[in-house]
Amino acid sequence: MSQELTLQQRLEALAGPDPLRRAVNEAVAALAQASIEISDLTCRGALAGITGQARGRNTDGDVQKDLDVRADDIIRAALGRLPIAVLASEEMADLDILNANAPISVAFDPLDGSSNINTNMSVGTIFSIMPTPSDASAAFTQPGSAQLAAGFVVYGPQTSLVLTLGQGVDIFTLDRDSREYKLTGSTVQIPPNATEFAINASNRRHWDLPVRAYIDECLMGADGMGGKDFNMRWIGSLVAEAFRILIRGGIFLYPGDARHGYEEGRLRLVYEAHPMAFIIEQAGGGATTGRQRVLDLVPRTLHQRVPLIMGSIKNVQRLEHMHTAPDVALETNAPLFGHRGLFRV
Ligand code: AHG
Ligand code: MN
Ligand code: MN
Repeated sequence: MSQELTLQQRLEALAGPDPLRRAVNEAVAALAQASIEISDLTCRGALAGITGQARGRNTDGDVQKDLDVRADDIIRAALGRLPIAVLASEEMADLDILNANAPISVAFDPLDGSSNINTNMSVGTIFSIMPTPSDASAAFTQPGSAQLAAGFVVYGPQTSLVLTLGQGVDIFTLDRDSREYKLTGSTVQIPPNATEFAINASNRRHWDLPVRAYIDECLMGADGMGGKDFNMRWIGSLVAEAFRILIRGGIFLYPGDARHGYEEGRLRLVYEAHPMAFIIEQAGGGATTGRQRVLDLVPRTLHQRVPLIMGSIKNVQRLEHMHTAPDVALETNAPLFGHRGLFRV
């Protein structure tokens, strides 16, 4: 019988008597329970009617898959029973104001990595918990640094819950026999130097110079100014990239680019970048737009997109330097790469 602490025991130990913390715990426990139900669906796939079929488009114009909608329903049902002021979801056009006087509000991406559903790749759920301000409708126009908690679940070979309450990062693994999350990693720290980058390289021709210069420097390997050979990964699920970075380091980039609609990248500030940035910083990493710390950003609109570059702190700082010191970027992006681009022709 494994002796790991359960999620409930860990939450109790971290919360103490503080009523706000206890409200956060109740929401985390409900989200964890909902994620077990979503995990049951993802691991049964087509046998549970999960086909990845499009069901329409959400307000952000993204194709809405069957599991996006079912995951959203499961999470809203789990949270609807709690004293929560405002719900915000990638799959809902507007805020859902439930009980304006309740102490906390929750934003979530019910199913991250939707394009991977029918290809049996890891997908996930991301959530952010904010204190409810006096005007509840302003719950998600606060800086990311106001978050009380953030987490994500990866529905992969293991179903893993990553959680921060502002006191470090814990990793819990779902014990399928007892159907409980058990603590399998605590005070997680991201290695400060990485030799692995994650970016959708097919978009290189659309990137700004600093991003192109940084990636080209990685690709020049030990011969280049970075002096190290790099590996590359791109899974197409933010949660899977983030989990890998927490375990072995790395830098993830979804920058803004020249494509129409991608000027601010693809990821949404309120329910993807803010929670991820909180977790990554709590694990000793960095999270930036290239020019600004993500946790300093105040959303103007609910589904606002933001460039997200996060991971090992030294790599993030190098990329930020390239944004603020264009001569470095120009130097790296020397004629050697001027016409040839990312891959040797
Ligand atoms: P979602 O499925 O919630 O829209 O999120 C998908 C995001 C993120 O998980 C991933 O990193 C990124 O989209 C992949 O984007 P591309 O398909 O443009 O590579
Ligand atoms: Mn997502
Ligand atoms: Mn999603």
